[in-house]
Amino acid sequence: MPTLFRKVKDVKNFIRDIKNSAGNAHSIGLVPTMGYLHEGHMELIKKSKLQNEITVVSIYVNPLQFGPEEDYQRYPRDLERDLAMCEEAGVDVVFAPTDEEMYPEKPKVRIEVEGISDVLEGAFRPGHFSGVALVVLKLLNIVHPDRAYFGEKDFQQLKLIQRLVKDLSYPVEIVPVATVRDKDGLALSSRNTYLKENERESALSIYRSFLIAQKLFKAGNTNANDLKQAIREYISKHPHVKKIDYVEIVDEDFNIKEGEVSQGDRILVAVWIGNTRLIDNWRLSYE
Ligand code: PAJ
Repeated sequence: MPTLFRKVKDVKNFIRDIKNSAGNAHSIGLVPTMGYLHEGHMELIKKSKLQNEITVVSIYVNPLQFGPEEDYQRYPRDLERDLAMCEEAGVDVVFAPTDEEMYPEKPKVRIEVEGISDVLEGAFRPGHFSGVALVVLKLLNIVHPDRAYFGEKDFQQLKLIQRLVKDLSYPVEIVPVATVRDKDGLALSSRNTYLKENERESALSIYRSFLIAQKLFKAGNTNANDLKQAIREYISKHPHVKKIDYVEIVDEDFNIKEGEVSQGDRILVAVWIGNTRLIDNWRLSYE
């Protein structure tokens, strides 16, 4: 069983003891999550296990990153199940703090990353990324990992954290992990549990629309508008698709692309399927 900590000071002491006892030789990997673990999270854990002696998984549904109208209350939670999955994966430490531990007082610090926090997801979910940035920095400060693992599934979040760490010269290596998909192509997400059977079928249109765009790109169409239009048209003809929040293409530095796109650019999509909001992304390539 992984060692479970609920208190900041307990996990801090544990980490300090490990570092001291091994003459600072033990490397620590941190996998921050909001729990309700699935194979996507497991991929992050696997990578951390490969690269570090000690793997810490944090499980915390961070209220600060949810808007007032969002799904904070109904977000799925099951610590017992998560612990069993962590044990199976050989996780050493699970840190699952309470709200009082993480936020004894309402934080007054606000962290913004220009050009990332305020566009796409950030524009549709005001305050979301300052909540993410704050909790991730707190977790890094509590655990002091050598490496921290983030999924490409949440591409904008990954870019935000990479930039944060770079601008602050934060001593941690951010390791990206490719998106894990179900056999049918749906990107794994804790929020997929909200989907009803027939909605799930419509949700597949997101992945399939990427394949259509990818095919156009490979055939020589590098026009951003054509690719975005093809995606919108394909997704919106499916039932239960309530709204497409955005379809955009960004380059490696998260600049939104107009005109010509090139290999390595990413298509980012947010779609409402019934009452469930899904995000996904795809890297354009000639392969
Ligand atoms: P959560 O949605 O639980 O995701 C935790 C980590 O798992 C994130 O880095 C996310 O990108 C990654 N992940 C989720 N689904 C994935 C998939 N299908 N393939 C690969 N990686 C996947 O993201 C958060 O939590 C929170 O915002 C957090 C960073 C923990 C801050 O609260």
